Amino acid sequence: MRVYITGVAGFLGSHLCDGALAKGWTVHGIDNLFRGRSQHMPKSEKFTFEQLDLCGDIAALSASIQTFKPDIILHYGAINGTEYFYDRPFEVLDTNVMATINLLKAIEACEHKPKRIAYASSSEVYGEYPDNIPSAETDITRLDIHSIRDSYAAAKSIGDFYVRMFAEQYDIEWTLLRIFNAYGGRMDASKFGQVVPEFVKRALFEEDFTIIGDGLHTRAFCHVDDHVRMVLTLVTSEEGVGVFNIGNDEEITMLHLAKEVHKVVGREFAPIHLPKRSNDPLRRQPDMTKTWAITGPCQISLREGLTYTAEYYREQ
Ligand SMILES: NC(=O)c1ccc[n+]([C@@H]2O[C@H](COP(=O)([O-])OP(=O)(O)OC[C@H]3O[C@@H](n4cnc5c(N)ncnc54)[C@H](O)[C@@H]3O)[C@@H](O)[C@H]2O)c1
Repeated sequence: MRVYITGVAGFLGSHLCDGALAKGWTVHGIDNLFRGRSQHMPKSEKFTFEQLDLCGDIAALSASIQTFKPDIILHYGAINGTEYFYDRPFEVLDTNVMATINLLKAIEACEHKPKRIAYASSSEVYGEYPDNIPSAETDITRLDIHSIRDSYAAAKSIGDFYVRMFAEQYDIEWTLLRIFNAYGGRMDASKFGQVVPEFVKRALFEEDFTIIGDGLHTRAFCHVDDHVRMVLTLVTSEEGVGVFNIGNDEEITMLHLAKEVHKVVGREFAPIHLPKRSNDPLRRQPDMTKTWAITGPCQISLREGLTYTAEYYREQ
């Protein structure tokens, strides 16, 4: 199997790359190193890397795909990190839409077409007030022009449309991955990163432990090893065509997460609450019925996953 991964130096891209190599597949990855790090990428004869910007020269992108001739393209390259959605909304919208359009145009120009395209979409497309909790793949995507947070959700939603319409036109199989809060080692732990590494880093190394808002909003967290297993199973399965939630269905509050992190690192829990963010969804939980019928459920508990993650950041 030959897999082409965009965003390969990032958190999920690099773990997917490791997972694909462990299966004996051959991987070609690209990244512009906006947030990705070269040290995340493996040294393997079956892996090659090119520093390429998805928003750059389409001809270069096309040549890269045509030369490698992938069976599967995993499109994970994008600006991610909640603080960016608020801090640089136009850049998030523009980069993430353009990255997907350019990739599809690059594939269009290739004589070789992949058998499957899988796109890293997001739970954010279900909106601040999802139709249902847990949210199913059939739920309507909801965007709010008044919410700058939706800079990201809008791009992900447009990407869903583009990937599906393009793939159907060229008779390529498509998988839209609605990813709900993945976590693990190699995530950005800065303020532009995500909540689990931020909590772990703060609990391990900082004097004050801060939480945005009252901590009563909920999320459902999925360890990256479960993410990789589910995605690599779906993209090689005939039933894995369509829209799929990727995550864990255990809904917990941020306070619960913060307490678990403290237990794992052995620190007393004394949070300082910061003002809440605008348009931050109060609840987020995936309905995993459809995906788990193909992949089976998550295998790594929150406590185990947080322990691995804390070990990673301690070593760092
Ligand atoms: N981590 C999650 O919980 C989560 C949840 C929902 C969706 N996603 C999606 O999954 C994908 C990967 O997320 P992640 O958490 O690994 O983030 P990440 O930032 O670690 O990885 C994204 C990678 O894309 C690269 N990139 C950004 N812009 C690029 C461009 N113009 N050209 C080439 N490469 C570019 C970055 O350098 C980075 O290495 C993203 O598309 C993200 O939106 C992730």
